Amino acid sequence: MERIFRIAVDGPSGAGKSTIAKNVAKKLGIDYIDTGAMYRAIGYKMKTEGVSPEDPEAVARMLDATEIDFSDGNIYLDGEIVNEEIRTPEMSTMASVCSKIPAVREKLVDIQRAMGQRKSVIMDGRDIGTNVLKDAEYKIYLTASAEERARRRFLELQEKGETQTYEEVLEDIRQRDHSDMTRELNPLRKADDAIELDSTKMDIDEVVEKILEIVG
Ligand code: DC
Repeated sequence: MERIFRIAVDGPSGAGKSTIAKNVAKKLGIDYIDTGAMYRAIGYKMKTEGVSPEDPEAVARMLDATEIDFSDGNIYLDGEIVNEEIRTPEMSTMASVCSKIPAVREKLVDIQRAMGQRKSVIMDGRDIGTNVLKDAEYKIYLTASAEERARRRFLELQEKGETQTYEEVLEDIRQRDHSDMTRELNPLRKADDAIELDSTKMDIDEVVEKILEIVG
């Protein structure tokens, strides 16, 4: 029988998790699941429907009427692909805000756990190795300095024609690190049994190679 295994990839914003996880998935022929995209999609729906994160009842009502799926590299919100809509600086902030809401985390973690049951996956996020897939066969904690992460994000945003300065991007990264690491529920931290990889001075291929070595 085919061996089923899960790879959990956690780390701060901009460390390269999704690009690297996507590449590893392709090389190993397994599914890639971007859990950040799910929080972004919820944040996007809250924004477009005008639901306040401070109104738990409205959030609960919205969640009951929300379908989220991630498959074949696409994020589906109520059956529609919202890949582009969720990739703006505003949606980064919305995702961070909504990721603190217990009901949001509960719903998404349930979906994510179910996705990791049936088949081999590589899943990236903030709480995958510590919470969602605590028993994952492989756990990677991917970091890079805040300055390097800001430099990469800044170049990406410039290519898309966004007008944020490097200083603004760096400040944004620092704020999100703080928010992700200090929130009460499932904050970002390295699982005790995760292998830490610092990508500050490594390129994407080197990190992918390292993970492939670890998975063997
Ligand atoms: O990885 P990303 O930048 O797309 O994530 C967006 C936000 O979602 C990020 O600020 C933290 C949150 N998030 C989370 O709390 N738990 C996850 N497993 C993934 C993302």
